[in-house]
Amino acid sequence: MPKPSRSPRVTAATPAIRCSYQSRTPGEDALGCLVFFLTEETPLPPKEAGAVILQAAKDAVQRKDFAGKGGDELLLPGAAAGSAKGPRRLLLIGLGKAERVDAEALRRAAGRAAQRLVKLNLKRAGLWLPEGGSMGDRTGKPAGMAQWIAEGALLGAYRFQDFKSEDTSEDKRETLMEMVLYDPRRKSSAGAMGLGVTRAEAVALARSLGNTPANVMTPDRMAQEAAALAKRHKLKHRVLGRAEMEKLGMGLLLGVAGGSQQPPRLIVLEYRPAGAKGTLAFVGKGLTFDSGGISIKPSQAMDEMKFDMCGGAAVLGAMEAIARLKPKVNVIGLVPACENLPDGAAVKPGDILTAYSGKKVEVLNTDAEGRLVLADALAWGIKTFKPDAVVDLATLTGACVVALGHYATGAVGNHEGFTGQVTAAGQLSGDIVWPLPNFPEYEEGLKGKYGDLQNIAGRDGGAITAGLFLKQFVGEVPWVHLDIAGTAWDVKNVGHIPNAGATGVGVRLLVDLAMSFKGL
Ligand code: BES
Ligand code: MN
Ligand code: ZN
Repeated sequence: MPKPSRSPRVTAATPAIRCSYQSRTPGEDALGCLVFFLTEETPLPPKEAGAVILQAAKDAVQRKDFAGKGGDELLLPGAAAGSAKGPRRLLLIGLGKAERVDAEALRRAAGRAAQRLVKLNLKRAGLWLPEGGSMGDRTGKPAGMAQWIAEGALLGAYRFQDFKSEDTSEDKRETLMEMVLYDPRRKSSAGAMGLGVTRAEAVALARSLGNTPANVMTPDRMAQEAAALAKRHKLKHRVLGRAEMEKLGMGLLLGVAGGSQQPPRLIVLEYRPAGAKGTLAFVGKGLTFDSGGISIKPSQAMDEMKFDMCGGAAVLGAMEAIARLKPKVNVIGLVPACENLPDGAAVKPGDILTAYSGKKVEVLNTDAEGRLVLADALAWGIKTFKPDAVVDLATLTGACVVALGHYATGAVGNHEGFTGQVTAAGQLSGDIVWPLPNFPEYEEGLKGKYGDLQNIAGRDGGAITAGLFLKQFVGEVPWVHLDIAGTAWDVKNVGHIPNAGATGVGVRLLVDLAMSFKGL
């Protein structure tokens, strides 16, 4: 069982939340709050919760303050005033109809609960694992309950406070130190909880990497974070700098990095367990800032382009969880990291760059830079590590946001079976993936006028053509490109995602893919 431990944070400013598992009732445990997850059919806590709690909930249901509906949320006083024993407060969270409750609904409910707990400024809270009905059946077994609740709660409790000063910030007071999961019916387990904790901590790492501003989270800083990760888990680790990229002929990556004072980094992490069956490669776009370059972006919301490394952050987060959960498959993590800035040395529209693969690429728009850095990383990674399958993740196109909005990641692939596996991992993890069409007709517009390829094919179908540009660099290897432009930050109304900042999308998907990969 993976040991629950303190979250790996980019910096140590945010206190981590400890999770523990108890196969008993809370009894007289001193708790700031005790949370119950309840359905419409059974809006009352189980009898073992005790007469005082049961009566308080019954009164609330009678008053129609709470009915167990999805979205219902009610905070009540707990133990009798003056008593130091038992929960000080009760939090009732509605799950809706039992038959419709699945793993994601539980994660979201736990996330909502945790957001509330964090705001209450408690030291210690209890969560009574939901029980009964057909709950959990939709995604497997109730055995996963402790995972889903711990995962959702920790994700919901996530706060990024690394840049809030101790004395001036209101938010800084939010402290939730410990969460206790109570499972008196022993339907789930401490092991399941540990799984949820590990996954949530890996997502928190990815979020914090993403939320850290670009003046701090430079390509080299990303490489340092990867080095620290490698050291924590004894992974093989390597970073290519400008000189090696020049020697290897990575003209696309070097071209994009040309306008920046920050040297580019190609980060490589290798997880190789004994008895591994097959090799997966995960490649994440690591643009620590994307101004557009000479084809500069409008200034409106340009600050959000610090999130343009969220694909790379997802790969690092996934490597963190994979190193701890130890699936029996080799996983290579690759992050081409650089900045896209305008400068005298920046790549210009019309410039023709030579890729690592040898292809000549006309850069018609310097803002279509993600596909350039990924093309070199993909081609080099595939040649060097000979993976059985490859996934890349990138905040690649605004067009994907237009097409799918913020609740699904777009996918373009070259192998139906593998696209199916990635989509299934998305479903299991809650990082929902939506395959886009990949007809060869879409590739026509990528043919170059003066070079072999051009880096844009017009506005129409932009998320698809961007994906198909990458396809020119992966050869025959089964590959799926995930466009996370819409899902990587600012996702609203999902209980386990903070309403602002990086979501850590992709981490749990990659982990589930590695855990379930059975070859092709
Ligand atoms: N990083 C951006 C894509 C992006 C834009 C993600 C907005 C999330 C929100 C990417 O590098 C980019 O600039 N893409 C261009 C491509 C275009 C020039 C073909 C875009 O989408 O506008
Ligand atoms: Mn761009
Ligand atoms: Zn970009």
